[in-house]
Amino acid sequence: MRLPEYLSAAISQFRSGAGSSAVAAASRELTRRYKSASFATPAVNSSADRSAYLAARFPATFAANFRVLSELRRLAPQVEISTLLDLGAGPGTSSFAAAEILSGLASATLVEADPQWIQLGKQLANHSPHTTVRNAQWLQRDLRDPAGLPVHDAVVMSYALGELASAALEQVLGRAWRSAKNFLVIIEPGTKRGFAAVNAARTFLIQQGAGLLAPCPHRKACPMAAAGDWCHFSQRLERTAEHRHIKGASLGYEDEKFSYLIGTRLQLPPAQARIVRHPQKHSGHIQLELCTQAGVLEKTTVTKSNKDAYKRARQVEWGDAW
Ligand SMILES: C[S@@+](CC[C@H](N)C(=O)[O-])C[C@H]1O[C@@H](n2cnc3c(N)ncnc32)[C@H](O)[C@@H]1O
Repeated sequence: MRLPEYLSAAISQFRSGAGSSAVAAASRELTRRYKSASFATPAVNSSADRSAYLAARFPATFAANFRVLSELRRLAPQVEISTLLDLGAGPGTSSFAAAEILSGLASATLVEADPQWIQLGKQLANHSPHTTVRNAQWLQRDLRDPAGLPVHDAVVMSYALGELASAALEQVLGRAWRSAKNFLVIIEPGTKRGFAAVNAARTFLIQQGAGLLAPCPHRKACPMAAAGDWCHFSQRLERTAEHRHIKGASLGYEDEKFSYLIGTRLQLPPAQARIVRHPQKHSGHIQLELCTQAGVLEKTTVTKSNKDAYKRARQVEWGDAW
């Protein structure tokens, strides 16, 4: 996938004041901070950081949101999602992606602590062709603030949960869940640490009586976590020339690794099984590694003799339902 043209153009325009070497240096520093996972102060805290985030991270977090929200739409096509609450919105990434996928989206509320992100997000939103994004309501607020949040059809926390100290996690998640009429979507980096935050949210939501729509086909203990592994997926996105330059990269694409969870209050059937690794496609047979409804990991081989299944297996990717 690629970032919509209007977003690439708007991002270039934003950083036109900052030289690309300065943005590239800020991007390297931002990567270092995210890797160190020390969020005593916000990872993004200067205008150079914001330019770097927009140029180097926004395309990837947009791609992960796009993939996850597409899966939500695919598994619950009939459920109306007209209102969206984005917690830890940054530049508004989730709302941009949601507006591309959820055709019935009528209003979005974005909660963000950093006033500079809010200002920048509003400017970026002016470039959107979607009135829902242009008219979104922004609330400057700390997610740890104990006041309740307004109820929305879907609530998204994208790459924000991991920035909270673990002591605050359950309270923030509790408020997020109470404000979710139908769905709570959590997306984190596809690292051991990102998955640990998603898995902690999974345990918490199950305790609250939530159903799991994706990626898990079951509510039993996570077999990946039990094996000391981490459940994550990958979304390929095209890099623009500018994106490549800022990242000092030569490849025309990158693979964003992400972990996610969609909790729901509705009775909706999850996938029968989830493909949890790259399918191994050989001539005449395809091997799939699945997380199954029984709550266990299972390897299966689909051979050419099973015509329909083989045809489907040739199309599927890591992260798809099976
Ligand atoms: C990595 S950015 C993610 C931005 C966006 N959701 C995305 O997916 O691209 C994390 C955002 O969460 C915000 N954030 C972190 N802790 C917060 C808190 N306690 N209250 C409100 N916002 C917070 C940060 O200011 C930042 O904008």
